[in-house]
Amino acid sequence: TLQSHLASILDSVPDGMIVIDETGRIVAFSRAAEALFGYTAAEIMGRNVRELMAGRDESNHDKYIQNYLQTGERRIIGIGRVVTARKADGTLFTMDLKIGEAKIGDHWLFTAFVRDLTEQRKAEMRMREMQ
Ligand code: HEM
Repeated sequence: TLQSHLASILDSVPDGMIVIDETGRIVAFSRAAEALFGYTAAEIMGRNVRELMAGRDESNHDKYIQNYLQTGERRIIGIGRVVTARKADGTLFTMDLKIGEAKIGDHWLFTAFVRDLTEQRKAEMRMREMQ
C-alpha cells in the first residue's frame, strides 16, 4: 500500500523525521526519530509534539503554531534553528531543527528533519580547548 511504502521511505532517512498536523499532533515518526528520542512511533503518534520539548517552548508551542497559521510569519520554517529537545527519559539535548510545510486539501502538515548536535558540540569544545 501507499502507506507502507511511505513508512519504509521514512525509515531509510538517516535524520529523524517527524510530521505533525496543524494542531501539533504527531502523525509520523521515523525510525531515526525513535532512536533519537527513545519513543516508539506507536507510543508517540497522536501525542502533541510539545512532549518532545521542555520549559517555555513546551508551554508555548501550540501558540507558536497558531501564530504562524494566523500571520504566515515564519520563524523556523525555511530558516532552521538549533533548539533544546527532550527525550523520553527526560534527558535534554541540542538539536538541529528544519521544518517544511505542505497543504493537503484544507489542512497543513508540517514536516521536521531533526539531528542530534551533541557530538558536534563536544567536538567544537575540544577544538576550542586545543587552541
Ligand atoms: C515554531 C521550538 C519541534 C513545528 C516554533 C518556535 C519555537 C519552536 C521556539 C517559534 C519560534 C518563534 O516564534 O520565534 C521547538 C522545539 C522543538 C520543536 C524546542 C523540539 C522538539 C518541532 C517539530 C515540528 C515543529 C518537530 C514539526 C514537525 C513548528 C511550527 C512552528 C514552530 C509549524 C511555526 C512556524 C515557524 O515558526 O516558522 N517551534 N519546536 N516544531 N514549530 Fe517547533
